[in-house]
Order: sequence, then C-alpha cells, then structure tokens
Amino acid sequence: MNELIQKFETVFKEKNPQEFFAPGRINLIGEHTDYNGGYVFPCAITIGTYGLATKRQDTLVNLYSENFSELGVISFDLAELDYRKTDNWTNYPKGMIRYLQESGHVINRGMNILFYGTIPNGAGLSSSASIELLTGVILQNLFDLHLAELELIFTGKRVENEFIGVNSGIMDQFAIGKGQKDKAILLDCDTLAYEMVPVVLGDHKIVIMNTNKRRELADSKYNERRSQCESALSQLQTKLTIDSLGQLDEETFFGNQSLIDDPILLKRAKHAVTENQRTIKAATALKSGKLEEFGQLMNASHRSLRDDYEVSGIELDTLVEVAWEQPGVIGARMTGAGFGGCGIAIVAVDKIDEFIQNVGASYQAKIGYPADFYLASISDGAKYLGVK
Ligand code: GLA
Repeated sequence: MNELIQKFETVFKEKNPQEFFAPGRINLIGEHTDYNGGYVFPCAITIGTYGLATKRQDTLVNLYSENFSELGVISFDLAELDYRKTDNWTNYPKGMIRYLQESGHVINRGMNILFYGTIPNGAGLSSSASIELLTGVILQNLFDLHLAELELIFTGKRVENEFIGVNSGIMDQFAIGKGQKDKAILLDCDTLAYEMVPVVLGDHKIVIMNTNKRRELADSKYNERRSQCESALSQLQTKLTIDSLGQLDEETFFGNQSLIDDPILLKRAKHAVTENQRTIKAATALKSGKLEEFGQLMNASHRSLRDDYEVSGIELDTLVEVAWEQPGVIGARMTGAGFGGCGIAIVAVDKIDEFIQNVGASYQAKIGYPADFYLASISDGAKYLGVK
C-alpha cells in the first residue's frame, strides 16, 4: 500500500488519497446458471483490485492502472461519458460513472484514481466486475451517494451488459459486492434471495489453477451459449409454464426433453437444469460437512460443462482431469465462464505441494506452457479501507 501511495503521489502530484479494495471471485459450483434463473455458489477472494482516489475541483476524470502502466493516465471529462474503444480498461469505471449519474446521483467533480489489480489478467476471476464494484464504492465515498440496496451490483451488471456488450448474469457483481470472509453465497438468481454459507473445509484448502490461456472469443461464445439456452427455453414453453430453465427439476426436464428439436440446444439445457440441481445439493452437502459429496458434485459439474455445455477446452480439461487423479483431492472443476481462465481444486493441506508439482508438470508437458497456482482465501466484498 505504501508503494501504491507513493505511485499515486508521483502520477497525480497529490497526497492523502482514500484507499479502497474490491475482491475477485471464484464460483464453487453453479456455472452458467445465473442467466438461466438458477442457483450459483460463489465467494469473494483476497486477490482483487486496490484503488486510491481523490476528488478534483474541475470535471476531469484521470485514471491510471499499475497493471497497464504503458497506457499512462487516461483522461475524460464528466461531459463525455460515451464508450470509446481507445479508452481501453477505463470503459469499466466510465460506465459506472455514467449509469450512476443517469440514475440521478450527483457526480459533479472530476477525480484522480490509481488502480492496482492482483487478479491475473484474463484469468476469469472477474477482474472487470472487481473494477466496476471498486469504482462504485469510490464514487459512493467521494460523493456521499445514497444508494439503494444492491444498486452498485445492478449498475455493474448494466455496465457489462449495455456499455461493454457482454450479456453476463448477476453472479460476479453479486459475489464481489456482497462477499464475506470465509463464506460462500448461495444465491437464487431468480429471486435474488441468498444465504451466506460458511466454507469449512477442515484440513483442505482451495487451490486456484490458472490455465494462462488467453480468453479469445470468450465474449461471443458466452453470448452464443446464452441465446442457445433461450431458444431451448422457448421450445419447452410450448408446453410447460416456466419462466426460466432454473424452474425445472430434472424429472420434468427429462420427461419433456422431446420438445427440444435440436441436439445441441438439448445438451445446453440439460447442463443448465442439472447444474442447478447439483448446486442446491452441493450447498446442502457443504452445510452438513459432507465434503466428499461436495467434491463429487464439483467433478460432475465439470463433466457437464465439458460434455454438454462445451465451454471448458483442452487447457481446463487437462488441469482438472489431472487434478482428479492426485492424492488428497476432494474435487476439481473449472470456475467462471470457461474458454480458458481458471479451475479450482479442493486439496488436503499436506498434499498441496505435491499437487502443484504434479498438475503443473503434466500441464506443461501436454499444453506446452506453464499453469499457475494460487491458494484462495475467501474475503469480504468491495469496501472503503480508510486514509493514511
Ligand atoms: C461469467 C459471467 C457470470 C456467469 C459465469 C458463468 O463469469 O459474468 O454472470 O454467467 O460467467 O457461470
């Protein structure tokens, strides 16, 4: 933090910035269920984004990221809050300012903000939602905004959907906004009812496995999956009275699957329905300390994402399948949207070194470049840290 403060002073020639943090997230289980009105089970993690900020007297917004230092300070005026490709990563904070203003909040002065993310770029740990929620708490604090419950979470999602153009669900912003240390959030994305569930893993820890694969085409494939689910839903609706795939239990789904005329759409819907049921079972298993069962459900989730939803890819499959064979592993799966990014594994503490060694070596041998591994600690959501 002291180095960041010094950097802030050098870049902006100002002292005493306010300090903020927003986490990244992992999802324990419940993948591609949020936009299908199902359950997700994510947690915020201590890897995230730090922000240092001061308010200006004029209307200029100056943004600098330690992660993109080669881009220098990117500036725009509060009167020009349109999406611009050349503004690069700053479109996320810009979108937050714009939509909060549109909702009637008074943001009438410029600001200087330094961002520093410890989330590896493109790792699928929601660096973009982290930047959105970080910007949200900065604006809340600097301008003393009176926000409705969940307003920053919805605004972040709106930035993603309308400003950036990714048709994502509510999971990432919800996890990053609402996270609590050592708890996972069992969220019903249909009603937004949620429950904080303690993550008690005994002698085990969550290891994050990064494929280091660039997530090219991720956004268009993501939007494609989403519209495939919508098509499957509308075919089911010719007979069933449902608003989302999340409202179907497995028995009703399999009893009516002949309503779906296309084998690809059928596989996509099957994933959405079965993953939702697995998530409910997994949360119950975790609450009752049935770790083995929890791990089996994680493994089944990965197989469904690999075979039915087809979003894993060789890199994630390699990491996860090698992980399954290691001693001390309770379960492993991809986490997040897929198409590269990260997997997670629950591993016995005394086997973690061996795990990283073995999985890392197999991955390097098969894929040709190394994976990275981090221990996940479950953290609080986006927050103001104070001022030095
Ligand atoms: C991305 C999206 C989320 C969710 C996951 C898949 O992280 O932002 O809304 O759909 O993919 O579960």
